[in-house]
Amino acid sequence: MPELYRFDKSQELYARAQSMVAGGISSQIRRAELPVPLWFERAKAGRMWDVDGNEYVDYVMGMGPNIFGHSPDFISDAVARDMRDGFIFAGQMELELEVTEMVQSTVPLKGPVRYASSGTEIDQVALRLARGYTGRPKYLKFEGHYHGWTDTVAYSVHPPLDQAGPYDSPIAVPESGGIAPGSEHDIVIAPWNDLDALKAVFEKHGSELACVLTEPILCNTNCIMPRPGYMEGMRELCDKYGVLLIFDEVITGYRVALGGAQELLGVEPDLATYAKALAGGFPLSMLIGKPEIMAVLGDGRVQHGGSFNSNVMSMSAARAGLKHILENPVRFYADLNNQGNRLMEGLKRVGREVESDLQVQGLGSTFWTNFTTKEEIFNYRDHAENVDEEKYHRFAQAMLERGVRLSTNGRWHVASSHTDADVDRTIEAAKSALQAI
Ligand SMILES: Cc1ncc(COP(=O)(O)O)c(C=O)c1O
Repeated sequence: MPELYRFDKSQELYARAQSMVAGGISSQIRRAELPVPLWFERAKAGRMWDVDGNEYVDYVMGMGPNIFGHSPDFISDAVARDMRDGFIFAGQMELELEVTEMVQSTVPLKGPVRYASSGTEIDQVALRLARGYTGRPKYLKFEGHYHGWTDTVAYSVHPPLDQAGPYDSPIAVPESGGIAPGSEHDIVIAPWNDLDALKAVFEKHGSELACVLTEPILCNTNCIMPRPGYMEGMRELCDKYGVLLIFDEVITGYRVALGGAQELLGVEPDLATYAKALAGGFPLSMLIGKPEIMAVLGDGRVQHGGSFNSNVMSMSAARAGLKHILENPVRFYADLNNQGNRLMEGLKRVGREVESDLQVQGLGSTFWTNFTTKEEIFNYRDHAENVDEEKYHRFAQAMLERGVRLSTNGRWHVASSHTDADVDRTIEAAKSALQAI
């Protein structure tokens, strides 16, 4: 039995924070970390150190942005150098064009771009642009998909099943109090990964939809791949009804492949949003789209602003990160996926050894672990009906106590700096944690 970590100083700081920071945390998801939201001192490559002196192999990776691991020198050095000449100009700089050239040479969808700071923000730009371009009021969102925390998208991400309505015509269930009343009227909710259900939704609502907003790979629920033909079918339906197809590549962009999910799936959207891995840990998001659509943003018919858009630090980090990948993109993604696959296989193996119902699903670079007897989960309701989330939380805590930090929702993010030693230590900890729970 290994000696388990203690979290006394994190507990103290969390208690102190209660009267200073709302809820003691700055993003809701952090509250779910058990036994206590952790407080950190530093992080490097695949590891993090908390205020109690505990060392972790980290798979939260900032919830995805740290594709190279924590604080890689090639990004810190570049940002430190570039920021000496200014932080924010509220004006243009050539650096933005350098980043854009690299983006446009790698993303399959070709067209102009627009930058912002977070995934939430850029999805709002995409939605407004889709409505502005088509003149239509509604958009289609899928159950189980996450597109940020704002009123227009905070519906039916993980709705309680007793409130979610019929499978093929779900009710839009708000994720929060305080959402503007009536915002659900402009959202059509559909089950994902079911082409017949999607056809029926289009027959009913196709002519009033500005766009379909989808995660192309469902990274926010169990890391689910679309069934063969599903995304092609979605593309055809969008074309038939004059609906724009938006891929939310906030997680998948620069993670699952150089060209993101578009490249893996061979389906091209009309608009695509990027964030997380785009700037290797710095706040940068991007919309890319077909030229005729982006023209409506370009000439100001659709408005978008932001003081922090395209700031020096984020753009510098993006340039350094993309340059790093482009030195040898084939090797970069092969190594990332191989390391992730080795980890997934190791977790499955120890799951079998201890006769656990641990389920591991997804791609090498990002995947989910869960507890279910089902071999594969195919959409949100399948997940909600069959997965033991409480057991996952116990597993994540047992892993934390053994020096491995997992996200509170089940998603793992592999970084290019995760070493063989990191992976071996993780698999060993998983065996012990599974036995303990
Ligand atoms: C698919 C997807 N879209 C949008 C967002 C929102 O991004 P951000 O947290 O940067 O606002 C997230 C965040 O996890 C996401 O996973």
